[in-house]
Amino acid sequence: VSSSPHAVAVVDLDAIRDNVGRLVELAGEAAVCAVVKADGYGHGLVPVARAALDGGAGWLGVAFLDEALALRSAGLESPLVAFIVGPGSDLPAALTGQIDVAVGDRARLADLAAAARAVGVPARVHLEADTGLSRGGAPAADWADLVEAAAKAQADGTVSVVGVWSHLACADEPGHPATAGQLAGFAAALELADRAGVHPEVRHLANSAALLTEPAARYDLVRPGIAMYGLSPGPGVAAARFELRPAMTLTSRVALAKRVPGGSGVSYGHRYRTTGETGLALIPLGYGDGIPRAGGGTLEVLLAGARRRIAGTVCMDQFVVDTGADSVGAGDEVVLFGPGSQGEPTADEWADVLGTIGYEIVTRIGPRVARRYLGERP
Ligand SMILES: Cc1ncc(COP(=O)(O)O)c(C=O)c1O
Repeated sequence: VSSSPHAVAVVDLDAIRDNVGRLVELAGEAAVCAVVKADGYGHGLVPVARAALDGGAGWLGVAFLDEALALRSAGLESPLVAFIVGPGSDLPAALTGQIDVAVGDRARLADLAAAARAVGVPARVHLEADTGLSRGGAPAADWADLVEAAAKAQADGTVSVVGVWSHLACADEPGHPATAGQLAGFAAALELADRAGVHPEVRHLANSAALLTEPAARYDLVRPGIAMYGLSPGPGVAAARFELRPAMTLTSRVALAKRVPGGSGVSYGHRYRTTGETGLALIPLGYGDGIPRAGGGTLEVLLAGARRRIAGTVCMDQFVVDTGADSVGAGDEVVLFGPGSQGEPTADEWADVLGTIGYEIVTRIGPRVARRYLGERP
């Protein structure tokens, strides 16, 4: 944290621990893999991972090997799975670091087997079935081939199939017919694997939305991300309904306050014009910090006890709010979003206003914003 950061994302690690505890309860028999990719959804990779393990998660999930290696370097020893391991990934480092790797095709399986022979450590793999998302994983037509190859590699000791998994397309819309189709596809993929002699330790399918709303998707391991940060997977699955609370509060301080005459055009393009003599406050955060430029004129922030809309265009490093006749001065605290406990908007509310999802709001908060932790673990 720099000596005087212009903005601070305060991350409540106890909220993350408690949210994970709640998810562990909801998961029942299934273990919980806390998804901490993208710098813990913008909250901070290592502190979030520690809080999640403290809350009862048994596994950690990341997108890329670099993220997994950073967790190992920080001394975290839990089972750890990387979901996207493309060409050029440092497979020997994955093997020596005991990092589990998702595999969706025979080429990658062969790369891993070769790395395993070179390093002398079997590759721990999670075979990914594409059951209808058409993103990662082997489509149904290629699945039998992949599991047979995996069974062979397992027999020759180069590969250990730890998991079989898939990912849902529409779990954030409970009752969506695609989910039933994917559940059936996953069951079929598991059966084929079983017949080929592949018996994974963990079968996993559920993201936050599925964990919260679709018990049939839980299997042996669930992979919640957004819910552990206290945000909603989508408008149809509100986090508050499950007693989850947002962990990040984005704060700043007024950099400059001044009075201007009526009729003043404010910020680039003069998209806001003062209706009478008024006060303006300059907030030193902009799209360069992840404040969506599309939020000019629509997003609200909490300043001096009231919600106020961003006046005009969000710039790279700053935006302006109209404070009317209220007494606002340089140094006054601004809360952009948080859990809502002081009357500030939540990240989910910002997302609704912008037609996006809370994930995008928190993951985009950039490196110029300091992170400060409440309840940090050693
Ligand atoms: C493979 C995988 N599992 C789980 C998750 C967590 O999803 P969510 O944040 O919706 O719970 C993600 C994130 O998108 C993912 O890519």
